[in-house]
Amino acid sequence: MIELSLVGIGTGNPDHLTRQGITALNAADLVLIPRKGESKAELADLRHAICAAVITNPATQVVPFDMPLRDSADPDYAAAVHRWHDAIAQVWQGCISTHLPAGGRLALLVWGDPSLYDSTLRIADRLALRLDLHVTVVPGITALQALTAAHAIPLNEINAPVTITTGRRLREQGWPPNADTVAVMLDGSCAFSQLDPTGIAIWWGAYLGMPEQLLLRGPLATVSDQILHQRAAARAAHGWIMDTYLLRRAT
Ligand SMILES: C[S@@+](CC[C@H](N)C(=O)[O-])C[C@H]1O[C@@H](n2cnc3c(N)ncnc32)[C@H](O)[C@@H]1O
Repeated sequence: MIELSLVGIGTGNPDHLTRQGITALNAADLVLIPRKGESKAELADLRHAICAAVITNPATQVVPFDMPLRDSADPDYAAAVHRWHDAIAQVWQGCISTHLPAGGRLALLVWGDPSLYDSTLRIADRLALRLDLHVTVVPGITALQALTAAHAIPLNEINAPVTITTGRRLREQGWPPNADTVAVMLDGSCAFSQLDPTGIAIWWGAYLGMPEQLLLRGPLATVSDQILHQRAAARAAHGWIMDTYLLRRAT
């Protein structure tokens, strides 16, 4: 039996880790850390630094593994994601048979919170088809919480809904029907710049919670170019970027 704890670690600030998360990491026999190539080495380093700072149980092993890559050239996005998730479940299974052959407690550090635009829970479902698995989730601070906190704004307007979507969807399908507040994640190509900016305000944040944090806000028509420039410069300087933003349409 494998007891799998998915520990939300927040968005890059080691102080985002909760006491519940620290307890779960110390209860684990094995913590697996994904390596995602040179450009994302900083993110693996951050996970190692969190483990080094909070794990005091000498019996907890921290083991890196190479994360399989999604085939980004495959035009069938959904099929490529399915194959990718299967490959990850297979790698986890290999690590488990090497390091926990008799079963035990496994922990994974999940960026932000495991419930929001993260597939760890879906991959765990695949693993559960291959071995006896029980999953526990420790919630973490999401990128959206880090964004609204950094700008000191409420996520929603009074009694109003919020649409959370991806850059890909905003780019392909435009402004979501009936929405006034739209939170956008996973946007590699600045989908906001393709919208008609009339009456739309944006609150943008990159590297939220990290020392490099960048924030811009204002009418989309005024700040769109500024965001494009700052984003490109920051990406070039660091080799990677994670950003998210909230759009609100005047009603
Ligand atoms: C795969 S999703 C993971 C989201 C995560 N599970 C959460 O709860 O926030 C990655 C996306 O989250 C957002 N994100 C994560 N960390 C961020 C950060 N430190 N600053 C800005 N955006 C971040 C970006 O939109 C990024 O493309």
